[in-house]
Amino acid sequence: MNVQNLKIALQRSGRLSEGSIDLLRNCDIRFDDGVGKLRSSAQNFPIEIFSLRDDDIPRYVEDGVADVGIVGENILAEHGCTVDMIEKLGFGKCRLSIAIPKNDDYTSVADLNGKKIATSYPGVLGRFLKQQNAAAEIHTISGSVEIAPGIGLADAVCDLVSSGSTLFTNGLREAETVMNSEAVLIARKNLDSDLTQLVDKLLFRIRAVNAAQRNRYILLNAPNEKLKKITELLPGIKSPTVMPLAEDGWSSVHSVINESDFWEVVERLKNAGAEGILVLSIDQMINGGCIS
Ligand code: PRP
Ligand code: ZN
Repeated sequence: MNVQNLKIALQRSGRLSEGSIDLLRNCDIRFDDGVGKLRSSAQNFPIEIFSLRDDDIPRYVEDGVADVGIVGENILAEHGCTVDMIEKLGFGKCRLSIAIPKNDDYTSVADLNGKKIATSYPGVLGRFLKQQNAAAEIHTISGSVEIAPGIGLADAVCDLVSSGSTLFTNGLREAETVMNSEAVLIARKNLDSDLTQLVDKLLFRIRAVNAAQRNRYILLNAPNEKLKKITELLPGIKSPTVMPLAEDGWSSVHSVINESDFWEVVERLKNAGAEGILVLSIDQMINGGCIS
């Protein structure tokens, strides 16, 4: 029987490489990512991994060299290929921003009129300027964009910013955010049903991994007379697990809560009479952190 592999394109070396590899590993996909290896097969999932230049990934997916890929929304926006964006992955967050020399005055986009902006994102920047009615000149360069103002090549830059340290070391400051970006999973349009099934399988794992990272496991003790109120405060995935404790009149409550609101929930639980509250990441649960 001829088993089809899903071909996935990842960024070879750059801001998304590590996150992409980690994501596949967290999905329990085992493969060898030896330095400089352009292609590797997984041992326990029908997937083949290609390491490519990020700018090429959308086109390779569109052309069928790969079936799916992990790429930044910034690249997707610039190289506008007809692929399906199937999932935001939550890592590699950054923004594409226009930055100017830190001592330049700036109040609004109108200040960009007549300025020369160096960028590797002429497409995205061009659309932004048009939409904002700003008449700036775009100077396309492929790398080291941030040094352009310092050497008199441009008045401003439009480049990716994540920590901001590149701008800072080059005496620049952000003036406008052009777009926000993060890693996304893209797929070729009209994949056949076997490949679609593999994509769904992969996507199921990715979602489970990302959900586990966002969630916290909470354990607490509750006096039985306050149990109803306390369990109502727990927005668990399903209703919380409640078990009687050896000590009469007390119960142990276990639940999963979302990271974005767990400290508030913990506060409310305390006020409602919960004791011995323990908050664990799902990782700690799996690695035995809760066994004590
Ligand atoms: C981007 C950008 C800056 C840097 C900004 O390059 O061109 O150099 O990241 O990050 P910071 O705000 O954390 O300093 P990237 O590493 O993505 O490589 P690229 O030039 O291949 O896009
Ligand atoms: Zn790049």
